[in-house]
Amino acid sequence: MTKVLFICLGNICRSPMAEAIMKKLVKDAEREHEFEIDSAGLIAYHQGEGADPRMRSHAFTRGYRLTHVSRPIRSIDFDIFDIILCMDDSNWDKLHRLAPTIEAENKIRRITDFCTVHAVDHVPDPYYGGEQGFENVIDILEDACQGLLNELHE
Ligand code: 4NP
Repeated sequence: MTKVLFICLGNICRSPMAEAIMKKLVKDAEREHEFEIDSAGLIAYHQGEGADPRMRSHAFTRGYRLTHVSRPIRSIDFDIFDIILCMDDSNWDKLHRLAPTIEAENKIRRITDFCTVHAVDHVPDPYYGGEQGFENVIDILEDACQGLLNELHE
């Protein structure tokens, strides 16, 4: 069983989207028994809220339903999860500051490292931008999650 945790700042846009994409890919590949998949945020500001309505709407038109409820990362997550995937450099820095051990730090990866189609080094925060930002998040995360799933095969 591989335990995968997606992280972004608020846990209402990018990481719940990544969680839904990864769950769908795993289901379609009939590999649900191999994975536990969750997401969390680096701030608690949106704790208890569902995903951002704009993200939910774009997700829906692309075939995903976002059901995750926002929660902040806990220190125990660094023990529970095998791989902790972040969206950008700011997430990366914050996660490294929170990680309690070197072993925990070694679990942190950038999700875009798994992209095979998009040449990007981060998933841009869509929160303060326009509608295209949400489509861009889905485009990058579909690529990245497929790459991640392929890599976790090996
Ligand atoms: P996310 O987007 O990190 O992709 O969930 C954001 C959500 C909320 C805020 C920033 C980014 N915020 O500042 O409240």
